Amino acid sequence: MKLELKAPENERAGLHVPDEVSNLNIPFNGTICSPDGDEYHVKNNVVDLLGKEPEFTSIAQSTNHWKLTAAIYEDIWRKRSLSLLSGEEFPIEKEHELLIEWTAPKANGLYLDIGCSTALYGRALKAAQKEADIVALDFSLQMLEEARLKAEADETDLYFVRADARQMPFFSKTFDGLVMGGTMNELTEPLKVLYESRRVIKDNGVFFNMHLIKSDAWYGRLLQESVSIGGIKFWTKEESNKLFHQAGFRVEDQLVKGIVCFTKLSPA
Ligand SMILES: C[S@@+](CC[C@H](N)C(=O)[O-])C[C@H]1O[C@@H](n2cnc3c(N)ncnc32)[C@H](O)[C@@H]1O
Repeated sequence: MKLELKAPENERAGLHVPDEVSNLNIPFNGTICSPDGDEYHVKNNVVDLLGKEPEFTSIAQSTNHWKLTAAIYEDIWRKRSLSLLSGEEFPIEKEHELLIEWTAPKANGLYLDIGCSTALYGRALKAAQKEADIVALDFSLQMLEEARLKAEADETDLYFVRADARQMPFFSKTFDGLVMGGTMNELTEPLKVLYESRRVIKDNGVFFNMHLIKSDAWYGRLLQESVSIGGIKFWTKEESNKLFHQAGFRVEDQLVKGIVCFTKLSPA
């Protein structure tokens, strides 16, 4: 597959990413070059379109750029988090089942994991459909490096791109599907990211979104208000649906377990 990125410096220029970049058995280091001569580094298979640390606007955002957070995030927190947050036994396998059922990744399809952290969703998509291509995007280099290690250990080939989801480096209608797990709560400008998601998805594409909603219980709300100081946002289901509609998506299906909300979206 040929992955074509949109060069950050020139909206109309394409950046061709060689296929070998997604082959994680072989470390790929080098540069990719836009037709204008702008160069972007590829370090250990991670295409870096940012080249520097982004500006942090919250504590939640800055902790995602610590090596320690990246190292413990998936095994210590993420794999157990939904059981804790949904108030029932919700193993990661069950989440993956829903992800695959709603996304139904197709052979030769192209999928994007937005704010991938360690690319749990991206790896699950690839495991379910070996003939699909998956791009995992995050602006934390530390998370992408950890994601690369995990994907290599799983023998899963993914494309890793470091970029800001508020300005996605892709041309319009590029993806057959988008997946976003827990990221919406941490975004500084969620609507901007949803608008970008709407731009890069194909008209018949599917968008799987998991996010946390406001708790009904007073103690849950109290806890959510305290973490919101750190930059985590919560909405009611109705408020989130309003955001999805505003960005041009239609809610096709929705499943709420405790404060965990899974939504299947399609372009309206
Ligand atoms: C809660 S974690 C996502 C977890 C992951 N999707 C999963 O299912 O395990 C949020 C991630 O989004 C990334 N992120 C936040 N804002 C971003 C932005 N504007 N552009 C790219 N990545 C962003 C953070 O670096 C972090 O890795």
